[in-house]
Amino acid sequence: MRHREQWPCQVEAPNQDSSGFIFGPEFVHFRIWRIFKCRALSLYPLIMKDHQGPSLSTYSMPLAGFGNTFESEAIPGALPRGQNSPQVAPLGLYAEQLSGTAFTAPRHSNLRSWLYRIRPSVVHSPFELHDSLNRGDFRTAPFGDRPPSPQQMRWSPLPIPSHGEKKDFLSGITTLAGNGSVSSGHGCAAHVYVTNAPMEERFFVNADGELLIVPQAGPIQIRTEMGILEAEPCEIAVIPRGVKFQVNPTQNTSRGYICENYGAPFKLPELGPIGANGLAHARDFVSPNAWFETGPSSEFSHELIHKFQGKFWSSQLSHSPLDVVAWHGNYAPYKYDLRKFNTIGTVSYDHPDPSIFTVLTSPSDTVGTANVDFVIFPPRWMVAEHTFRPPYYHRNIMSEFMGLITGIYDAKEEGFLPGGASLHNCMSAHGPDATTFEKASASALSPQKIDQTMAFMFESRYPFETTQAAHEPSLLQGDYWKCWQGLKKNFV
Ligand SMILES: [Fe+2]
Repeated sequence: MRHREQWPCQVEAPNQDSSGFIFGPEFVHFRIWRIFKCRALSLYPLIMKDHQGPSLSTYSMPLAGFGNTFESEAIPGALPRGQNSPQVAPLGLYAEQLSGTAFTAPRHSNLRSWLYRIRPSVVHSPFELHDSLNRGDFRTAPFGDRPPSPQQMRWSPLPIPSHGEKKDFLSGITTLAGNGSVSSGHGCAAHVYVTNAPMEERFFVNADGELLIVPQAGPIQIRTEMGILEAEPCEIAVIPRGVKFQVNPTQNTSRGYICENYGAPFKLPELGPIGANGLAHARDFVSPNAWFETGPSSEFSHELIHKFQGKFWSSQLSHSPLDVVAWHGNYAPYKYDLRKFNTIGTVSYDHPDPSIFTVLTSPSDTVGTANVDFVIFPPRWMVAEHTFRPPYYHRNIMSEFMGLITGIYDAKEEGFLPGGASLHNCMSAHGPDATTFEKASASALSPQKIDQTMAFMFESRYPFETTQAAHEPSLLQGDYWKCWQGLKKNFV
């Protein structure tokens, strides 16, 4: 935990309870009740040793490593030995395979897990279109709202819900940009979210893509059918396509970003001449242990929202869908602490291209040209000699959607706010604003620590289109273009 001691990245929940929502005691009760259901029924020895009440340590001992094949059971003996699908599974559980890639995908990229659950996933009422979510701001590409624009765009952070307004994670998502096509399985969407209410008996499963969640302010608990993850600002969590889950703020409010990846699942980038180590280390990714909840059945007591081809469908269940008692495989949610990133940069002059900061990549059919990359701009030393140190002026065939978790981004000292976002589409010029240019051109080039900051980018080969919601004057900064207009002619 040395990283957190060095740099706690304490981005607190944004201004909590201006809403008047009585969040704390009710939600604590909700959590304890849910956890107790698991504890009372699982008899998991580690849990039973906990006499101090429920705590995260009782259910979230992580399984370490990126893409490893794990096995985990919430009750000893729940996992079949020696085979996947015995005639009768242990403890009366149902065996169910969850395939994240085609059966015939090459072994090195084949993703699947076996889940041993109290009821198979097929037990639910018929799907019906969900009215309010289908009219909401959580959108799927292609949108067709307006022509894709080459104009540089920048957005202010989502506002905190107003007095008395409750937003759970699903209703709190606003899509700003997206590209590609969900039906053809390529591209991605860039969402922002703000939530101040638990999902309670509502659960979500996304058939359209995996979700890379980037909390920006306020931590979240992600309860999935394969276990529980907690993520705070400067951590990310990835929920694979098809995994059932819910997200709840663990303080009053949480705000952040989401990359919904319609394409190939994220993986670690190749390291090339860097060698065997560096960037995000596989050992620092963690997946949750098996955890489940069960309880008295009652008809239509739980709702499962299923997103399929851009539409939200609702079905009712008599039980929690988080009822997997044991699982094994390599297709599972995971989290990663961005502060553990091994940042690599120049020790002589100029910049490496920002691909050196790639945490995860979703490849496309063209080698080296990502469907979408997740890239960060973490704290680091700048030591480059006789070099303009901020990011260089740039036009790029790739399209760049950026966000800021905390601190100040080194190309924009003003206007690009934590919780805000920017978009520089394919071949749209961008770079430091006039103030940053003037300052960096004159500053002494002693070693400098860029500290207490964390920006990121969803970088895609496909140009982004924006939603109507992204053009709301309260979000879109209409004067962004002006930040470069002070760049004067210095030619002599
Ligand atoms: Fe760029």
